[in-house]
Amino acid sequence: MAVQLTARQLGWLKGALFLLALVPLARMVVLTVTGQLVEPLEFITRGTGDWTLYLLTVTLAITPLRRLTGWNWLVKLRRMAGLYVFFYGLLHFLTFLWFDHFFDLQEMWQDVLKRPFITVGFAAFVLLIPLAVTSSNGMMRRMGGKAWQRLHQIIYAIAPLAVLHFWWMKAGKHLLGQPILFACIFAGLLLFRLKGKFAKAPKLA
Ligand code: HEM
Repeated sequence: MAVQLTARQLGWLKGALFLLALVPLARMVVLTVTGQLVEPLEFITRGTGDWTLYLLTVTLAITPLRRLTGWNWLVKLRRMAGLYVFFYGLLHFLTFLWFDHFFDLQEMWQDVLKRPFITVGFAAFVLLIPLAVTSSNGMMRRMGGKAWQRLHQIIYAIAPLAVLHFWWMKAGKHLLGQPILFACIFAGLLLFRLKGKFAKAPKLA
């Protein structure tokens, strides 16, 4: 049965999810400032990376879930989820720039070029920027729906790059369980979305 929400309920849900998405960050801050971590820098770099990946999964799952359940209001949560992907991705990048390179951009750039798993993570992050910048209703109007949609298809490149980054990093440590899991989830979600797209395409005469 399709669950419908009133505008007020949706507002509450959005507010609750907004706060919920800040919990991982709050936890990282509390554990760091109270000195409960053995390796705080590593914990923060990895924690922000993990949450970028988890929230990317949530964002990609919204369209399939909406189609399967008929809960159309889910689409109203997509922008916030996507902006949180960018937010945690930015924190992840900044922690790398700060803790690994003390804001030395030239040194960071050398590292990006030298280590393939970082090259790929960097590419995924750079591709997230236009999506975040054009996420507002105003930008969508200015660009026009078609161009906006075409641009937002970059997500089909971002998702594999993000998994490859994770995979490559863990491969060095022979820990491929989680990367394989995420590769399967992302492949499933992207295929579901693509299937819907082709099903909607007009038939050629
Ligand atoms: C969409 C963008 C990105 C995603 C989804 C992502 C995700 C992740 C994940 C899941 C991890 C592993 C955390 C763990 O061990 O549990 C990680 C680690 C890491 N990422 Fe990213 N990342 C992204 C972008 C970047 C960028 C832009 C950089 C730097 C330019 C970067 C540098 C690193 C580093 C240095 C590590 C830690 C490696 C280690 O501790 O050995 N990532 N990332």
